[in-house]
Amino acid sequence: MIGIKNLNFTYQKSKKHAIKGIDFTIEKGEVFGFLGPNGAGKTTTQRLIIGLLTGYMGQIHILGKERSSWNKNFFEYIGVAFDFANLYIKLTAKENLELISSYYKNNTANIDMLLNQVGLLENKDQEVESFSKGMKMRLNFIRSIMHDPEIMFFDEPTSGLDPVNAKIIKDTILDMKNKGKTIFLTTHNMTVAEQLCDRVAFINEGEISAIDSPQNLMIEHGKAFVDITYEDKVGVKSQTFPLGNTGENNELLNLIKTKKILTVHSQEATLEDVFIKFTGRSLI
Ligand SMILES: Nc1ncnc2c1ncn2[C@@H]1O[C@H](COP(=O)(O)OP(=O)(O)O)[C@@H](O)[C@H]1O
Ligand SMILES: [Mg+2]
Repeated sequence: MIGIKNLNFTYQKSKKHAIKGIDFTIEKGEVFGFLGPNGAGKTTTQRLIIGLLTGYMGQIHILGKERSSWNKNFFEYIGVAFDFANLYIKLTAKENLELISSYYKNNTANIDMLLNQVGLLENKDQEVESFSKGMKMRLNFIRSIMHDPEIMFFDEPTSGLDPVNAKIIKDTILDMKNKGKTIFLTTHNMTVAEQLCDRVAFINEGEISAIDSPQNLMIEHGKAFVDITYEDKVGVKSQTFPLGNTGENNELLNLIKTKKILTVHSQEATLEDVFIKFTGRSLI
């Protein structure tokens, strides 16, 4: 659905070389995530693919064509929800969706059904001005999918949302994936990446350092440990051992045989640990 080759982009005014030769592909039906800290280049990449930024070098192949040879029709096939809600605040939720649906040639989904999907049906005749941030984000989200696009772009879709609102958005994304839609999202939240993404790309300072499923990244590059606390003559002590050949670790076995064990905790590697290993920096 999307093929990016040697993409480079520099913001002209600041001469900031924000994207430094990145490559990736996104397959149909995939949830693909860009995981990286603030300033990594996530939003810039999405804006380039969407066409909100122009003047790139390299290739952006999307839905069978180079981005630059698409016309306005492009927006019938894609949905975009950015981390700020762009809505008409003086209109009600329903009026917003009615107006936006009139921009599209495609038939749009049933407005009440959409509102119901994100728990806003009973607020449909309320002006958006009176909405909380979470409500605006949910409305902005369904606004972006109402024309049933093939590819969706979500920029930090759950950022700043409480767990209940975040779950509604995450469930809606998984629902779209189950319908065969292709989803490209950005996040600096490893939990979101783990829960939603089939594959993630680690991005930092405009460069991609790894692309794989969150599970593979953690299994192949993460180290898991076991922490043991035990009672000794002099008091409580703790020791950490790598998980893996645990049964052959004589030091660990000896400890278990000879000491009074107080606690045993395993620590699996997180996606953030693996990110740090690749990039030398954390996600925040
Ligand atoms: N409009 C802009 N003009 C100049 N530099 C920008 C602009 N937008 C972003 N940048 C810079 O480009 C880099 C990538 O930013 P961005 O794509 O927004 O990162 P992310 O979405 O991963 O937080 C950052 O160094 C940022 O400061
Ligand atoms: Mg961003």
